Amino acid sequence: MKIVQIGTGGWGKNHTRVLSELGVLVAVCDADSQKSKEYGEKYSVNHYESLDELLSSEEFDGAFVVTPTSTHTEIAKKLLEAKKHVFVEKPMTYKSEDGEKLVKLAEKNKVILTCGYIERFNPAVDVVKKIVKEKKFGDLVMLEFHRENRMPMHIKDVGIIYDTSVHDIDTANWLFDDMPNVVFARAGRIKHEHEDFASIMLGYKNDKVAIISSNWITPKRVRKFNAVCTDAIISSDFITQEIIVEKSENSETIQNEKQEPLLLEIQSFLGAIEGKNELIVTSQQAVNVTKIAEAALLSSQKGIPIYLDLK
Ligand SMILES: NC(=O)c1ccc[n+]([C@@H]2O[C@H](COP(=O)([O-])OP(=O)(O)OC[C@H]3O[C@@H](n4cnc5c(N)ncnc54)[C@H](O)[C@@H]3O)[C@@H](O)[C@H]2O)c1
Repeated sequence: MKIVQIGTGGWGKNHTRVLSELGVLVAVCDADSQKSKEYGEKYSVNHYESLDELLSSEEFDGAFVVTPTSTHTEIAKKLLEAKKHVFVEKPMTYKSEDGEKLVKLAEKNKVILTCGYIERFNPAVDVVKKIVKEKKFGDLVMLEFHRENRMPMHIKDVGIIYDTSVHDIDTANWLFDDMPNVVFARAGRIKHEHEDFASIMLGYKNDKVAIISSNWITPKRVRKFNAVCTDAIISSDFITQEIIVEKSENSETIQNEKQEPLLLEIQSFLGAIEGKNELIVTSQQAVNVTKIAEAALLSSQKGIPIYLDLK
């Protein structure tokens, strides 16, 4: 298995480390020559400043695209056209119509296309997903997410909905095993070029709801969620991966082995290429998340609910 990585910035340096540890990294590419050289030398792999150069020089099976959102479509398209398996960081594309085109291209060229919705690989989410599926504490009725962080000043191309809320949109769809039929949102801007706080309500069938609250205003890092079930409330922290179940008579903590979600995510993509496991995040699910993010922005701008009919 030979893997290349495009984009070795703030987040991409983690993929480079994991891919190198797994022994599959053969080349890196970053438009910033200093970064490509730094990581090429650090992990003893070839390094390039342009994707075209990499494509004409390297033989490989799959690629990780960890560049800013606005560049995803162009880079992923070239890789898919070259019949490579592609992992694109979230959100898959800025416009959902571009995402739809990538899905079709991947199908046509019979390669895997997936997107970095990493919380699916968070052991805490995995445990809650199993509890919900088995109906251990009854039916899942409501989800609440809180994701707060200092403003990431290097992100220029998107606001908090595309950058941050998309994680919770995807996790809500995953836990409900459904797509929302209505989106209502309020978002605003205090310091960033785009919106830096947002509250999003996603409506699913049978009146089930996910409430997503994201902001880049607070100085601390918060990433938590509650799953309200008919017989208990499950609270979890994406960072500590702790899970607490509160029932009317008592509360219990579910012990869980803490693991690095990125490692599990990358192993899952590599396993899917080799046919060892199913692809967890399908490209259509990733397009749907972008559609929901688009609807949230539109809802906030117009002050109305946006109704959706997603695949
Ligand atoms: N899954 C997660 O939890 C998570 C966390 C952070 C970021 N991300 C995603 O990762 C992506 C990158 O974010 P980041 O914070 O690392 O950004 P960053 O700006 O720190 O790094 C991006 C890198 O891409 C390079 N680059 C830009 N255009 C390029 C091109 N055309 N070809 C090659 N290299 C190019 C830049 O030089 C830079 O080094 C974004 O899509 C972001 O949403 C995901």
